[in-house]
Amino acid sequence: MQRSTTSRSSGDLLADRRYDYAMFAKAEGDLAAAADLLAQALEIVPRWAPAWFALGEVEAALERREEAVAAFRRALEHDPSDALGAGLALARLGAADAAAAMAPAYIAALFDQYAPRFDSALRAGLAYRGPEILLDAVTRVRSGRGQGGTVGRMLDLGCGTGLAAEIFAAHAGVIDGVDLSPRMVEVARQKGIYRTLAVGDLAGFLGQQDAASADLVVAADVFVYVADLAPSARDSARVLKPGGLLAFTVETHGGEGVVLGAGLRYAHAEAVVRAVIADAGLELLLLEAVSTRNEADRPVPGLVVVAEKG
Ligand SMILES: C[S@@+](CC[C@H](N)C(=O)[O-])C[C@H]1O[C@@H](n2cnc3c(N)ncnc32)[C@H](O)[C@@H]1O
Repeated sequence: MQRSTTSRSSGDLLADRRYDYAMFAKAEGDLAAAADLLAQALEIVPRWAPAWFALGEVEAALERREEAVAAFRRALEHDPSDALGAGLALARLGAADAAAAMAPAYIAALFDQYAPRFDSALRAGLAYRGPEILLDAVTRVRSGRGQGGTVGRMLDLGCGTGLAAEIFAAHAGVIDGVDLSPRMVEVARQKGIYRTLAVGDLAGFLGQQDAASADLVVAADVFVYVADLAPSARDSARVLKPGGLLAFTVETHGGEGVVLGAGLRYAHAEAVVRAVIADAGLELLLLEAVSTRNEADRPVPGLVVVAEKG
């Protein structure tokens, strides 16, 4: 009997073994054998989404686009919440809308498995510096307005394990956080910095906040998972007090629009960010080129943005 459409175990011993052998063949570079073994596993358990997903990856590596697209579609069919990220794989193959490809279940699953090693992987591995960049930007904006001391209430959107709250803790009265990944939130909770922590989507979280109830809304390295920033900017504008600040980082690129990169993160063109801020009725106070992290030891191009609710 099949236990779960997204479980790495199909519930059938023989199918599991075929899958394991396929992964071994793939690791050894024998893609044809991997494809064959996955097809055999799927003959036994045809509704097993991870095997369809793995087959899609193997077919893509074999540069058999049509077969890859078909396999990823079957993965999506058997895992409609798309915890595996088949929508993103289809978007990378040009077979799905990139802007709609980032499923909440995929983000939650991705960061749930990442949570225990997130802090060390980001800080040491990728030289992640988003929170420091944001604190510096917010501090410069505030001191330019003659403001020192702490802000009152900060909202930490996509708070993850609480890296931003650790940096902002001495500069904010209270911090409330939200994140899609229960395990990331659990790590954040153990740090004891937040007043409240919620598991959920940032749109739902912002929608539940009272109007004009926050002094600072921070999104550190979160909007790379959000194609359309307009709803978050509009909701933040509603939730901010007059004079309150929205501060966030994005990855960017030299072209136009929003691009889904090979790292399965969105990059927003500067013009997109400016338009989103203006459409939300916010005033742009700071927009600077920065890099919040390295990839393959090279800084990833990004922007830091601070905007004010008038
Ligand atoms: C790269 S981590 C950054 C975490 C934290 N802000 C930091 O600076 O370390 C991105 C986080 O955003 C969360 N996230 C992405 N999209 C989200 C959404 N739509 N709603 C809530 N959380 C989201 C992910 O679960 C993940 O924990």
